[in-house]
Amino acid sequence: MLRTQVAIIGAGPAGLLLGQLLHRAGIGTIILEQRSKDYVLARIRAGVLEQGAVGLIEEAGASARMRQEGLVHDGTEIAFGGVRYRIDFQALTGKTVMVYGQTEVTRDLMDAREAVGAPTVYEALDVTIHAADTDRPSVRYRKDGHETDIACDFVAGCDGFHGVSRQTIPEHALRTYERVYPFGWLGILVDKPPLSDELVYVNHERGFALCSMRSATRSRYYLQCGLDEHLDDWPDDKFWEELRRRLDPEAVARLQTGPAIEKSIAPLRSFVAEPMRFGRLFLAGDAAHIVPPTGAKGLNLAASDVAYLSRAFVEWYQRNSMAGLDTYPRRALARVWKAERFSWWMTQILHRFPESSGFDGKLQAAELDYLFGSKAAQTVLAENYVGLPY
Ligand code: FAD
Ligand code: DHB
Repeated sequence: MLRTQVAIIGAGPAGLLLGQLLHRAGIGTIILEQRSKDYVLARIRAGVLEQGAVGLIEEAGASARMRQEGLVHDGTEIAFGGVRYRIDFQALTGKTVMVYGQTEVTRDLMDAREAVGAPTVYEALDVTIHAADTDRPSVRYRKDGHETDIACDFVAGCDGFHGVSRQTIPEHALRTYERVYPFGWLGILVDKPPLSDELVYVNHERGFALCSMRSATRSRYYLQCGLDEHLDDWPDDKFWEELRRRLDPEAVARLQTGPAIEKSIAPLRSFVAEPMRFGRLFLAGDAAHIVPPTGAKGLNLAASDVAYLSRAFVEWYQRNSMAGLDTYPRRALARVWKAERFSWWMTQILHRFPESSGFDGKLQAAELDYLFGSKAAQTVLAENYVGLPY
């Protein structure tokens, strides 16, 4: 039987960031991750960090490479009706965002954890959580055929949407809210310079497109696609041809294409499980909520949950106070729902919905026209995009 203070399930951004912040506060953790390290690092996901997330990575002692290689963005472009409009985050809010891939954040946090010798068990299979509603919870896992139990004070469920933590909570103790969207995003990663210095979000009659990036030499593009489509339906040439159709001529002229180094399809979903706690089990990140990617909020919400949760654990261990842990669900969920609203709204104004009526289309056009003509509306977008305070 091993023992630790906080057993963390999942070595994604939420689990790794929590582990590092707790380590710095002198709190012991063991992270259990069902996949291998290489598998976790090969997943291409989010790319945009709010200032709050950047600050936490700094606090975690894992920001050196991000500060050197990350790209600071002062604004973004939105294209509609053949015209591109710029939303100037810096002018509207005084804040910026950082373009730095989730893979890189994960790698930096793994390196920082290894450097301090804090334990992570990769390929920990069949993780189960026991007695979460008592003062003496424990977790059990299997590795290389051996079962191990870990006694702990608390369990942090940072194991993503399909993880075991949320599933451990009895149905009567959980309320879920969900919206599934009638489309997905087809993403492609390519070793070519991005077509613009900033991200370009496109609402086109053929569907949404997004031109993003990972560095000055690596680009990330997304296309709205049907839920019934498969990667086999999308050879590289077809992807580039469809992207060109959704971009304006000037953007097309600057688009540099090449062989995809990664290609994936993700369905879009909004989901929240309340109250993010069951006894001494606390959920953080995708384990508790999912947003459609349009607002670039998934990874950032994982970070803000971890900010609240790590401070609450520190309050318990340093001042023997449960106040932070008791109010964690309320404080985290207040911010989660605002990000859910923003991500839903961005999805609503930028995608073509298969069932939408002429009326819906006119409203969408009016919404964008209002946005482009109103500083107040642009400020609402900008302050949500750069991240609400926490
Ligand atoms: P995760 O990153 O999912 O990490 C959870 C970890 O727990 C994983 O390593 C998993 O292997 C592990 N785990 C799962 N089950 C168990 C178990 N039973 N036992 C032990 N370990 C377990 N967000 C954006 O903002 N922009 C994007 O473009 C974007 N693209 C995405 C594409 C995909 C395919 C997905 C799935 C998500 C995407 N997101 C995107 C969302 C963003 O990546 C997530 O919000 C972010 O990864 C959340 O971090 P997390 O640590 O909470 O969860
Ligand atoms: C990226 C993903 C997003 O969902 C988004 O809104 C912006 C950028 C990206 O992967 O680069």
